[in-house]
Amino acid sequence: MSANLARQPSHSLNLPTRLMKDAIPLHDADLQRIARILDQDAGIFVSMEKNSLVHSRLIKILRTLNLSSFKEYCDLVEAPAGKELRREMLMALTTNLTRFFREAHHFEHLLKEALPPLIAKAKLGERIRIWSAGCSNGQEPYSIAAIILSLLPEANNYDIKILASDIDCNMVAHGRIGMYSEEIAEKMPDNLRNKHFQKVTTENGIQYAASERLKKLVSFRELNLNAVSWPMRGKFQIIFCRNVVIYFNAETQKTLWNNFRDMLCGPGYLYIGHSERLSGQSVDKFESVGTTTYRLKTH
Ligand SMILES: C[S@@+](CC[C@H](N)C(=O)[O-])C[C@H]1O[C@@H](n2cnc3c(N)ncnc32)[C@H](O)[C@@H]1O
Repeated sequence: MSANLARQPSHSLNLPTRLMKDAIPLHDADLQRIARILDQDAGIFVSMEKNSLVHSRLIKILRTLNLSSFKEYCDLVEAPAGKELRREMLMALTTNLTRFFREAHHFEHLLKEALPPLIAKAKLGERIRIWSAGCSNGQEPYSIAAIILSLLPEANNYDIKILASDIDCNMVAHGRIGMYSEEIAEKMPDNLRNKHFQKVTTENGIQYAASERLKKLVSFRELNLNAVSWPMRGKFQIIFCRNVVIYFNAETQKTLWNNFRDMLCGPGYLYIGHSERLSGQSVDKFESVGTTTYRLKTH
């Protein structure tokens, strides 16, 4: 019986509409079109093995648009009027996983090695700039801000800023608001939560709101790392770009490492994700000073 059913086309089964839509397949030709767009727009590499992941992330959009095939969807996304759909697709396919103090050894290094000399310079009136590139919903830049405040409680009175950027405007908006769910707050170290977050009741339930002191140190901005050029003029003493380039193709990765090198002023630090490696010309320009922690060579 089931073998017979399997051979019948779904439209002859009188299935509920939702189930029929779930049965919309993502053919390789359409996955290739989606992969091409992701590569062009964000430098993100999507392999043909990612069919079920891409399917599960995009099927809801197809349902909302009442479409019956991924071909129709790709046609819409690629049409001149499809700019917003294209952005929506990109946001649906990026991975935003993050955590306060993720990869704790980087924050140890920041606290003990990278920041103390910079704090001393800030006290003398120097401009200190840190970039959290691919910051997701802000947990990474707020972790950096908390470390700065632990070393310099009056940091808001100095020229110290963290640029927090992401391609995903929803993540940027979340970070800017600085409110986190109880589930996220439960995973924060106790002293971070107690010192820098306030429990508030909102229409979305209990939330934890970042303190003004923390928020004042961070500027959020939408920015595509794969753009031809970046709008920032000044350089950075520290760049965090963690668990972002892992999704990029090899060429884009090399270009990015080079661009980060050019955006650092010596002896600047670059922190990268646990499964990422420097590649291309920039390898010789950095020295390793810890696990996935690099310092720009000054000679
Ligand atoms: C896995 S999260 C990593 C967040 C944080 N850095 C961490 O390690 O916890 C990757 C982030 O990179 C962002 N991203 C992906 N492609 C990007 C691009 N081309 N330009 C800027 N951000 C990008 C995603 O939107 C996502 O928020």
